[in-house]
Amino acid sequence: MELPVIDLEPYLDVVSGKYCGDEALDPQLKTVCSEVSRTLRETGALLIKDPRCSAQDNDRFIDMMEKYFEQPDDVKRLQERPHLHYQVGVTPEGVEVPRSLVDGEMQKKLQSLPEESRPLIPTGPDPKWRYMWRVGPRPSTTRFQELNSEPVIPEGFPEWKETMDSWGSKMIAAIEAVAEMAAIGFGLPKDAFTGLMKQGPHLLAPTGSDLRRHGKEGTVFAGYHYDLNFLTIHGRSRFPGLSIWLRNGKKVEVKVPVGCLLIQTGKQIEWLTAGDCIAGMHEVVVTNRTLDAIKAASQENRSLWRVSSTLFAHIASDAVLKPLGHFAQAPLADKYPPICTGEFVEQELSLIPCRASVAPFSPIPPNEACCNALRVLGQPCLCVLVNGPPISGVDRSMAMQLPEKCNVNFGPCELKKEKERT
Ligand SMILES: [Fe+2]
Repeated sequence: MELPVIDLEPYLDVVSGKYCGDEALDPQLKTVCSEVSRTLRETGALLIKDPRCSAQDNDRFIDMMEKYFEQPDDVKRLQERPHLHYQVGVTPEGVEVPRSLVDGEMQKKLQSLPEESRPLIPTGPDPKWRYMWRVGPRPSTTRFQELNSEPVIPEGFPEWKETMDSWGSKMIAAIEAVAEMAAIGFGLPKDAFTGLMKQGPHLLAPTGSDLRRHGKEGTVFAGYHYDLNFLTIHGRSRFPGLSIWLRNGKKVEVKVPVGCLLIQTGKQIEWLTAGDCIAGMHEVVVTNRTLDAIKAASQENRSLWRVSSTLFAHIASDAVLKPLGHFAQAPLADKYPPICTGEFVEQELSLIPCRASVAPFSPIPPNEACCNALRVLGQPCLCVLVNGPPISGVDRSMAMQLPEKCNVNFGPCELKKEKERT
């Protein structure tokens, strides 16, 4: 199945000029908006063309990231910030653990899929590096300071800030246009989503995978998972490998045409639409198309680091996630109770390096990254987590055992201890 490519230009032309309300929108553009919302609902993905995001912009960004990831590991690790949950700076390979590795419920569901739609089950953490760079303005007052922390700039890259900020804000502009079109298509006010995105902790989070070391067919760079943010956008990668699952369960390898961008639905849009649009499942695996691209790159003496120019667009941390407008009356609305967005994100992120060891009945001991994260997290935060709402794939009693397994000298958590934040 080929995903349709939506050209944003006609919509952008209209909104930059006269359009100010739903009534004024040309019926033809309204049809395009309905196609945007329908495609997001049915496929969890959307290919777009935005005249403001050129192939050259994408190339300039990928060139810089290839140069960064090609540096020795110990040089890159100077930008590592485990105490900030890796939410800024670099995340080394082997830290991100895919949900499918640790979530027993998900594994059961996967076994029931027909073979051609079954994801590859990874055997360990993702072998890819990632760089986290916040894009856009931040709120002056927020309850979620640690999610909105200062940027990390590596040495030797004078162009870093400008390149990251300009490519990042261009991709956010593209997401905002799509979010408006989707809102119109879903029968919501045009700014229903973009109003909540203002000052959100948007993250430009390119990944780097070393195809020299991990270029074997079947290597899983990102195990089957969904994204926890609102919408994710990527420029075209020089090495294919991304597959998505459609709403009907069918697995599709994504081909992004030159000059196009790919958008994927995350958990926050699922919440806001009460499950009308669900977070799209996806994986990145070395396929035979990746192998072809590796061969071509080697012949042309190009970099063998696979860079993805991923940007996670978020709903603002202090905004409340809840089904919007008519979705509040949707049959599944009860499954999506109001929750502060920052709280939802914190829950999902805080124990990422520990995921493998906090799954129900997991025999896997916590690794070094997990124990470091735990030490930095501190006892009060761990207690908040174990007393908080359930986190998918995390067993509370396994989480309580972490301090002992990591030889960290924490006092025991009091159940229902008053919530504190660090
Ligand atoms: Fe993802």
